[in-house]
Amino acid sequence: MSLEAKVGEMTQLTLGTILQKKNKQIIEPQHLDSTRAADALVNYQVGSILNCGNHAHTPAKWNEFITEIQEHAERKETQIPVLYGIDAIHGPTYTADAVLGPQQIGLAATWNESLVRENAAATAEQVAACGIPWNFSPVLDLGRDPRWPRFWETFGEDPLLASRLGVAMVEGYQNGDVKFAATLKHFLGYGFSLSGKDRTPAWIPERELREYFLPSFKAAIDAGAMAVMINSGEINGIPVHSNSYLLTDLLREELGFEGVVVSDWEDIRYLFTRHMVAEDYKEATRIAVEAGIDMSMVPLDFGFSEALVELVSDGTITEQRIDVSVRRILKMKWDLGLFETGGIPPALELYPKTSKFEKVAAQAALESITLLKNEGQNLVDANQPILPIGSTGKVFVTGPTAHSLNALNGGWTGTWQGTDTLYNTPNRPHLTRALEEQFGSNQIIDFQLDQDFTADDVQMVAREIQATRPSCVILALGEMPYTEFMGNDEDLSLFKNQKELVRAVHKLEVPIIGVFIEGRPRTFSDIEPLMDAIVMAYLPGDYGGEAIAKVLDGSYNPSGRLPFTWPRHPSSHMTYDYKHAEIAASDPSEGFNPQYSFGHGLSYTTIEYSNFSLLDSIFSVGDTIRGAIDITNLGGRTANELVLVFSQDRVASITPSVQRLRGFERVFVRPGETVRHKIKIPVSTLSFVHMDLDDRVESGAFTLTIADESAGLRIQ
Ligand code: BGC
Repeated sequence: MSLEAKVGEMTQLTLGTILQKKNKQIIEPQHLDSTRAADALVNYQVGSILNCGNHAHTPAKWNEFITEIQEHAERKETQIPVLYGIDAIHGPTYTADAVLGPQQIGLAATWNESLVRENAAATAEQVAACGIPWNFSPVLDLGRDPRWPRFWETFGEDPLLASRLGVAMVEGYQNGDVKFAATLKHFLGYGFSLSGKDRTPAWIPERELREYFLPSFKAAIDAGAMAVMINSGEINGIPVHSNSYLLTDLLREELGFEGVVVSDWEDIRYLFTRHMVAEDYKEATRIAVEAGIDMSMVPLDFGFSEALVELVSDGTITEQRIDVSVRRILKMKWDLGLFETGGIPPALELYPKTSKFEKVAAQAALESITLLKNEGQNLVDANQPILPIGSTGKVFVTGPTAHSLNALNGGWTGTWQGTDTLYNTPNRPHLTRALEEQFGSNQIIDFQLDQDFTADDVQMVAREIQATRPSCVILALGEMPYTEFMGNDEDLSLFKNQKELVRAVHKLEVPIIGVFIEGRPRTFSDIEPLMDAIVMAYLPGDYGGEAIAKVLDGSYNPSGRLPFTWPRHPSSHMTYDYKHAEIAASDPSEGFNPQYSFGHGLSYTTIEYSNFSLLDSIFSVGDTIRGAIDITNLGGRTANELVLVFSQDRVASITPSVQRLRGFERVFVRPGETVRHKIKIPVSTLSFVHMDLDDRVESGAFTLTIADESAGLRIQ
């Protein structure tokens, strides 16, 4: 291969650069511009294309685009097919009419690995059928700061949960019937910036980087993930795209990752336009390639390709270094079968029937819905709390997220921001419509509000409630979609007009059921007491409306559990695994006092834990701790109970967290039944990263807890 051909393989452009345009705007309906496409794909021999030219396309359109792209590629010197990549992050986000499930934060609330695996496999099948074999998913950054606008793209705050669900997602993408690659992103430490805003500087000591942020990536690399995308931000003053310690020493040598490392969007350019660690494009390219980038998501011009050819020609970078990256890229293309198919999409008739995938997306939405509070008085049985509503009395529904399918789906839906209704999946109901379908339209009184509703609108709602005298009011609150920096926010409090709405309805003395449709926990402690029941729906996708309706009417017994700590105040961002010194303040309400704890979630039955015991009390490092606990269902409905095992390291050479999650499992318990549930925790999982960066177990006393039961042990 010529140097130019190799550099072409390392270059990724966005589809928009090769589409027909007028005054820099893409012309609709979209078509490839044959001159631009030939320039990119034949002259510059660009080896990878990404994205969608602003919005979703039908499978037929994808088939046309990708076939034409591969036909161009066949005319270049090497004839190597193009590797197409996309962000299909909660189902095929850029395929019209495809099946969209919950965003990752909702998937995390299911705590169900097989469901996550099945949803990923459904995505792989649909996206691969369009001729796209590469997905920029999963996000394995942690959601430990809800100010970060990409919080909802994560599996929440805990390293173990993110690791196990991350592995499940990779397996779902890569190990199914189609050839499809996952990308672990964004390596490493993205999402924990000082400001909470997207792509802003983070200070994360290496010990903490390894203790909290590395495990999910390590687990998914061990599971065979084919690609890794790099964090756009800087850590400790070093942009990650320029950090050869992280990208080469850690990722390659220590973790043994052999796949493709792709930059994030424009991130090599940002080294000289944003981070100011390089003088120009050439220096930025040298730094990034030397650090370990294989492929540059350029994605708008040929600056990277030209700079890299120059760098090799003038001897700054060796051709052997280029060969290392090109080999990895070609291996990935090989493994994805591109050399067999020429990258030509499967025949359109083979596009799978989407109905095949609806069940898993719907099930994931259902299992994600989390009941946070259930008090007040039931309309049928006054001794029971307000939920489930059942079929008595009129139900008044309003709120800014009640009439929007986009709100249920969030960002990366049809378009990057997910706000354009034009690309909504046809015939999928928003919440109010789903409630009408579930309860019958004569039980539902519907009042439409948009996101920016005013005090006058609130008064109108109040008058309408007084006039129609409903038995309860469902307020659909939360956020409208945003993606990346567009979701930066100065204040995590629930919006003022939404709080006013709650207050106004509360004055009417009608029970309120608050439903949050949002990607991060907005704080609302001042109005929380005014609502009888509170449900968190996250961003549940196309089947979210139905899932919420089934929980509210009681046809599904809610089983979702929070994958994060819900703060009580906008500035109290403590996670469940906080340190003892964080609650030094004498008033406990000043210490750790979240609105809802990590793992919290109610159901329509009552579970009691008892008789927790371990088979032994002294263990060595290679042992497995075995024990059992009784789980009794005292209520009238089968429980899909989540058993969480936490450990407490009593004393350690690095200040221990008050608790760490060490295991989780779903257990079904029928009404009246007691299940003796066995636990198995390898002692090795009680390790922590020491000052010398070695991850090892320290001997001493530990406690394991499950709910309010605990058992002590010693490691010698
Ligand atoms: C995001 C990535 C995404 C890429 C390609 C970037 O702005 O940070 O997560 O994969 O765009 O769309």
